[in-house]
Amino acid sequence: MSQQTAGVAWPVTDGTRVPYEIYTSQTVFDREQERIFRGPLWNYVALEAEIPEPGDYKTSFVGDTPVVVSRAQEGSLHVFVNRCAHRGATVRREASGNAKEHRCVYHQWCYDGRGDLTSVPYRRATTGFGGYSPDFDMTAHGLRKLKVASRNGMIFATFGGNVPSLEEYLEAPLLAAIDRLMARPVKILGHMRQRIKGNWKLYVENTRDPYHAALLHGFHATFGTYRSNQPGFRGQDKARAHSAGGKYGDDFAKPATAEGIGQDNFIASYSLSDTSLMEGRPDFDDNINLAITSIFPSVVVQQIMNTLATRHIRPKAPDDFELYWTYFGYQDDDEATTAARLKQANLIGPAGLISMEDGEAVELIQRAIVRDGDDCAFLEFGPVDPDPEQDRKGEDAVRAFWRYYQGIMA
Ligand code: FES
Ligand SMILES: [Fe+2]
Repeated sequence: MSQQTAGVAWPVTDGTRVPYEIYTSQTVFDREQERIFRGPLWNYVALEAEIPEPGDYKTSFVGDTPVVVSRAQEGSLHVFVNRCAHRGATVRREASGNAKEHRCVYHQWCYDGRGDLTSVPYRRATTGFGGYSPDFDMTAHGLRKLKVASRNGMIFATFGGNVPSLEEYLEAPLLAAIDRLMARPVKILGHMRQRIKGNWKLYVENTRDPYHAALLHGFHATFGTYRSNQPGFRGQDKARAHSAGGKYGDDFAKPATAEGIGQDNFIASYSLSDTSLMEGRPDFDDNINLAITSIFPSVVVQQIMNTLATRHIRPKAPDDFELYWTYFGYQDDDEATTAARLKQANLIGPAGLISMEDGEAVELIQRAIVRDGDDCAFLEFGPVDPDPEQDRKGEDAVRAFWRYYQGIMA
C-alpha cells in the first residue's frame, strides 16, 4: 500500500526505504511542527537540576518554538511559549537565570514564573496617554502555556490536548533507562551547543543505529568503548517510538588489538597521550558501559563510560538543527569522579573524540541528497525480520522509527 507524507510518497511503508525528500522538504518540516512537536506527545525541554531554585528559568525549544522552562516561586514547574502576548517579541533573551518576573523589553509587559501577565504599562491611561479599555482582562493575556511532566528530574512538555501520561507515552523499558541514569540527585556540569547543517531526523536515525558505531567511530573500535562483538541490549515501547540500547563490558580498560576485537577499523597507529582519559569508575552495578536512550521525537539520554548527558535536538529548518548537550554528574560525586567526568566530556560534544563524526555524517548526507528527492535510503541491514516488531539489533530500530513517524504524520 502506498502512503504519502506531506506530498512525499513512500515506495514501501516498512521502513526499509526512505525517500530523500523527507529530509529536504519545507512542507514536510512544517507538517512535523504541527503533527509531532505540537502533537499529542511529550517533548524533552530541560533537566530539573538546571532550574533547582524558585525563580530559576531556562530557555529551550519545542520543535522550532522557543519556550521558557520555569520554576515558580512556590516550586512548581512551568513551560510557556517565549513570545510576548502583546506583539510577539521574545520575552526571555538570556539562556538561563533567576528572576521574580519576566519583562518584555519592547513595551514592558510583565509576566510571573507561571507565565501569567502581572502588569502592563499605562494600562489605565492615568497620564492621559494610551491605555486599555476598563474591561481589559489580565488573565486573558498571559503567555501560552504547555502541559508539563517530569520523570525523575527530566522535564517534558506538550502542546497537545489529549495526551497520554508521560509514563504511558514512554512505557516501562524507557522509564527504566531514565530512572537508571537519574537514580541519584543530579549535578549539572555544563553545556555545549553545535549547529548541524542537516535534517534533524538524520540525527535521530544515527542514535538508533548500532551498525555505524564501531565503523564510523575509529575511537570506539580502537579504544574499546564500543565494539560490534560486545554483548548488547535493547529496550523499546510497544509502538516502537523510542529506543533504549547499549553495551555491556568494561574492557575499555584493557589494551586492544585488531585481532582481539575483530574490527576492521582498529587503528593501530592511534594511542592516547593521556591514558587517564579511559580510567573509568563504575557508576552502576550492572556492567553497562554504554547506554543510548533515544526518546521520540528529539532527545537522547546517554552514558558513555562516565560521560552522562542529554542531547536535545532542536530543529531550525529542513537542513538545519541545533544539538544542545547538557552534561551532568551526581551531587554526591567526589572530586576525582567529577574530574574524570569532565575529562571524558572530551569523548562527546561538537568536537568529541567519538561524536564529532556523527554531525559530519549527517552533513555528508544532507549535502548529497539535493535534487533526487524520490531516490531512497536503503535500510535492510539486520536482517529485515518478517515480524517487524521483532528487534534484530541491526537497522531495525531505524526502520521502527520510520514506521512510527509515518503513522503520526499521516
Ligand atoms: S511586544 Fe512585548 S510588550 Fe510589546
Ligand atoms: Fe555515532
